[in-house]
Amino acid sequence: MLDESNKTYPPTEAFTAQAHADKETYDRMYAQSIEDPDGFWAEHAKRIDWIKPFSKVRNVNFDHGDVSIKWFEDGTLNASVNCVDRHLADRGDQTAIIWEPDDPADEAQHITYKQLHAHVGKMANVLKEMGVKRGDRVVLYLPMIPQAAYAMLACARIGAIHSVVFAGFSPDALAARVNGCEAKVVITSDGAPRGGRTTNLKDNVNKALLHCDDDVKTLVVRRTGQQVAWHENDYWLHEMEEKVSDQCEPEEMNAEDPLFVLYTSGSTGKPKGVVHTTGGYLVFTSITHQYTFDYHDGDVFWCTADVGWVTGHSYIVYGPLANGATTLMFEGVPTWPDAGRCWQVCQDHKVNQFYTAPTAIRALMGKGNEHVEKYDLSSLKVLGTVGEPINPEAWTWYNEVVGKENCPIVDTWWQTETGGHLLTPLPGAIPTKPGSATLPFFGVKPVVLEPESGKVIEETECEGVLCLADSWPGQMRTVYGDHQRFMDTYFQQYKGYYFSGDGCRRDKDGYYWITGRVDDVINVSGHRMGTAEVESALVAHEAVSEAAVVGYPHPVKGQGIYAYVTLMRGTEPSEDLRKELETWVRKEIGPIAKPDLIQWAPGLPKTRSGKIMRRILRKIAENDYDSLGDTSTLAEPEVVDDLIENRRNRG
Ligand code: WT7
Repeated sequence: MLDESNKTYPPTEAFTAQAHADKETYDRMYAQSIEDPDGFWAEHAKRIDWIKPFSKVRNVNFDHGDVSIKWFEDGTLNASVNCVDRHLADRGDQTAIIWEPDDPADEAQHITYKQLHAHVGKMANVLKEMGVKRGDRVVLYLPMIPQAAYAMLACARIGAIHSVVFAGFSPDALAARVNGCEAKVVITSDGAPRGGRTTNLKDNVNKALLHCDDDVKTLVVRRTGQQVAWHENDYWLHEMEEKVSDQCEPEEMNAEDPLFVLYTSGSTGKPKGVVHTTGGYLVFTSITHQYTFDYHDGDVFWCTADVGWVTGHSYIVYGPLANGATTLMFEGVPTWPDAGRCWQVCQDHKVNQFYTAPTAIRALMGKGNEHVEKYDLSSLKVLGTVGEPINPEAWTWYNEVVGKENCPIVDTWWQTETGGHLLTPLPGAIPTKPGSATLPFFGVKPVVLEPESGKVIEETECEGVLCLADSWPGQMRTVYGDHQRFMDTYFQQYKGYYFSGDGCRRDKDGYYWITGRVDDVINVSGHRMGTAEVESALVAHEAVSEAAVVGYPHPVKGQGIYAYVTLMRGTEPSEDLRKELETWVRKEIGPIAKPDLIQWAPGLPKTRSGKIMRRILRKIAENDYDSLGDTSTLAEPEVVDDLIENRRNRG
């Protein structure tokens, strides 16, 4: 492996000269944000238009049992007004959204702020017409089309809470989320083109709704024009839009009213509904979008994430639009029709900031430089990554082949729970090191704790678990419908701190290096998954008696899914059964959860009390047999030898 850990890459003088922040500015603003958080955030909350100004900045308690997080709590505002209406006077005719469709032969669309305003107003009135009221939940299950952004903002306009479900999730996973938040309406499309193939989204919704309340209505966007099975509670968006005006009075929302719920995987149980509220989230996504990407008026910003993930919420929709930016939305995939697609889009739309995941960079890197070199990438100014640690090879390729050594790379560490960037370089201020998310954003107080004792490590150079000592405006507020679970997940293990679930190292310069999850969460192609979810899908199959799932290093995906499966007595393993289980998991959760490797395991390593020793399974999956640790406490130590002997050959 390339050792780049000691190399630093400072920004060029020319970049720093035009940047929002140089090193001195970062140091000064960071110090102020920590010494006087109330003063700092009162000042920076002015970037948002408030209907009624707040009198109190923060009101936070991190004590387990009593956790409560409030920002700007007596202020009122409307998120859609901040993302749309307030830009009309100055930049009504500027493009708000560039939409690049799946098929490069189809024309891109440019939606101005004026047009965005009309679309959002119409969709808001349609939702009202369908009976959606302030506080109601609306599920979005959509391709990457502008209507996804319209729908999010329409919900925000009328005070409804959106919950976007990634369109790659299965009907069962969709049903669980619709029921979880008791949604009144599901917004979907007839079909979803992606990478030249079409998913029948409406079909999936039909299947999902068999498991939901009969009153749930469906609003359907016509995207492909394909035939769909129609039901009583279904409404076409284009028909509904004919009936309503494009003017919709925004609701005055409290800063702490929920803006959205987004389901994410944890180490145990079913996915949890992460709740973000209105005021703090908007302030935080807007300030991070501007400083982390050094966004300037007139720039074209492209985040390649899907709106089904938090990255899409914060850095395709809310952050950029709150800043009056031009944000690019891409319906397709980076490798179709070929590995040059992203670079063609960058060239065609003169993209200035490009933000993607290490897994995409690795996949494109493997296809050869000629796909990049064909295109004019001179518009690029800043490159970003998110989702998992980036390996030095991929970093170097990104820097040299894409950025021509002229674009700072911002490696942004954050989570669904954090709403926006917590650790990241500011591109004009902080010299980068490949693989490090460098330093905290304004107002963020990272601490490294000893995993066992929970003691804060004071030495600069250290390794431990990453926690946050204080709140920031974009922090999640609760788990939807289950505040106890929120407190238990994030505030119980280390008293008085928010526990991120990640391990990290801090180097002599105070830079943070994320070492990965310390819990049973894995990160597959930048998609977060609980191993428990995949296990429960597997054991739901009649042939499976027990299953244990771990991550293992995968050259492109970062981590792959490795499943150890014990079959029911009398069931014989076979290639057919292996395929069947793969299909089964796809159906239960979605294609992203399909195991990469299934190993038949006549027995699993368990403690005498019956707890599966995942540490050992992880080592076997990693092909690392020398550090299995103590196996003498196992109920049946010999199962380990059997597992090693039969470890799936990965080739
Ligand atoms: C987990 C959160 C936040 C948007 C995408 C993922 C890992 C995220 C980095 C990074 C190393 C990273 C962490 C984190 N992660 N960014 N720059 N370097 N690891 O959101 O699905 O909530 O996953 O992704 O393990 O805990 P998410």
